[in-house]
Amino acid sequence: MVKYKIAPSILSADYANFASELRRIEETDVEYVHIDIMDGQFVPNITFGAGVVASMRQHSKLFFDCHLMIVNPERYVEEFAQAGADMMTIHVESTPHIHGALQKIKAAGMKAGVVINPGTPVEMVESVLELVDQVLVMTVNPGFGGQAFIPEMMSKVEKVAALREAKGLAFDIEVDGGIDHETIKLAKKAGANVFVAGSYLFKDDFKARVAALREALND
Ligand code: DX5
Ligand code: ZN
Repeated sequence: MVKYKIAPSILSADYANFASELRRIEETDVEYVHIDIMDGQFVPNITFGAGVVASMRQHSKLFFDCHLMIVNPERYVEEFAQAGADMMTIHVESTPHIHGALQKIKAAGMKAGVVINPGTPVEMVESVLELVDQVLVMTVNPGFGGQAFIPEMMSKVEKVAALREAKGLAFDIEVDGGIDHETIKLAKKAGANVFVAGSYLFKDDFKARVAALREALND
């Protein structure tokens, strides 16, 4: 039985009102909050760091799915663990020591995820699949919300799902970028079960939009 999870991306929220934004998320039935950490170097945009995550933790008991788009994320494992992150998902392109970095995340007591950019082949993460709780296949180039879903990424999701099957593993497959009530169906069909959505959800009718994603998953 596949467990489908919806992960609203706080990147599209009102940054001056994280507490009320978290409340709005908690009033729905979503499983995760997706928290995008950007350093202005790995990606052109800058968001915030572990300090802000620690403050968010004071206002929410939700599962914090932290997506790090920073150079050498292994430098901040302890900080994010202490801030209350539940999972740290790091880019294979962001460190020459992906295996060690994932080990470090697990040793700090968090779940570990690995991410690939649209231009990165699945083979790049094949040798760390045994270590991870989640593989994130980016469906846009990271850095900004509101970009168009890249449908060609679906064959990569299929490939990750096939490798998981062949190796007898059980990690989740997440997609991030351009997810709405239509594209979520393509991602589900390809084998994804965790769906990040930012600009689609953070509108006045947040609750109804979560319900629309849920409904699309039931189709
Ligand atoms: C982009 C981020 C995403 C972003 C998705 O680099 O990783 O999590 O918030 O935004 P949408 O859903 O608007 O494409
Ligand atoms: Zn993200």
